[in-house]
Amino acid sequence: MRARAPLPLVLLSLSLFSLSFLCLCLCLSLSLSLPFSYPLPPSVFILQDVDPDAIRLKFPDPEKAKKNILIQASNVDYRWGSKDKPAEDGKLLLKDVSAQIEIQSRIGMLGANGAGKSTLIKLLLGEIEPVKGEIRNVASCRKAVFAQHHVDQLDLYATPLDTLRLKFPELSLQECRNYLGQFGITGDMVTMQMGFLSGGQKSRVVFSMLTKSQPSLIILDEPTNHLDMETIDVLIDAIKEFKGAVVLVSHDQYFLKSVATDYWCVVDGKLTSVPDFTDAKKITYGV
Ligand SMILES: Nc1ncnc2c1ncn2[C@@H]1O[C@H](COP(=O)(O)OP(=O)(O)O)[C@@H](O)[C@H]1O
Ligand SMILES: [Mg+2]
Repeated sequence: MRARAPLPLVLLSLSLFSLSFLCLCLCLSLSLSLPFSYPLPPSVFILQDVDPDAIRLKFPDPEKAKKNILIQASNVDYRWGSKDKPAEDGKLLLKDVSAQIEIQSRIGMLGANGAGKSTLIKLLLGEIEPVKGEIRNVASCRKAVFAQHHVDQLDLYATPLDTLRLKFPELSLQECRNYLGQFGITGDMVTMQMGFLSGGQKSRVVFSMLTKSQPSLIILDEPTNHLDMETIDVLIDAIKEFKGAVVLVSHDQYFLKSVATDYWCVVDGKLTSVPDFTDAKKITYGV
């Protein structure tokens, strides 16, 4: 006959077991509810855009430009490498490019990867010099350029509020909050570590910083790579409302068609400008 454990002992071990189970549950729920205090990999907790009303985006109005043409490129050639030490194959990346950006331009730039779109932007901004031809910054206007590396360079452990205050120390806390609100960064999001925000939310923080100077020209170099559909739609609306000029480089046909009224096609070093998207696609991709 097997000996039975006494009843009090059974009860004691049962209560000890349930107590340790409760402790385990408590620890687990605490570690899940307090993710923000731990330096966890930011990709683990991604907040999605939950409130469609809160994701509006408004670019500040630009100062009134004095001239209709902002930037003019005439017969520009470009190859990477310096004038003394040209690129090894000596081939031109851009050939005889002429184009202009006006105060209310809505330009969509198309071209295969490596065609020279980002290089053309650098030329237009005066960051690099053409080997031949001329680029004139006619109206000396303020410009803002958005590229993916701006989002990648955000400090993921700083909050949007800290990030904005660091860049614009002259703004009060409340002014920073109000300004972020224009970009749909509202409520708790303002004081959350950037690593917990979605790609779209991080992009909006960058948009807020880039456009604080009230640029007359906004250049978006492949902005949709990490944006969700809602943010793309919000960005389209913001561009439509913006009173300055926009140059948009993208492979996203929906985005290009919704925003642009002129298309720049960069193919084999040549720039062709057309007003119709179907023509632009044919010129660029042959379809
Ligand atoms: N800083 C640089 N130095 C040398 N070559 C570069 C540099 N930046 C881009 N290139 C080269 O110029 C070509 C066009 O690049 P880019 O303008 O970035 O193309 P796209 O934006 O159309 O994809 C590519 O072959 C690229 O490798
Ligand atoms: Mg590029």
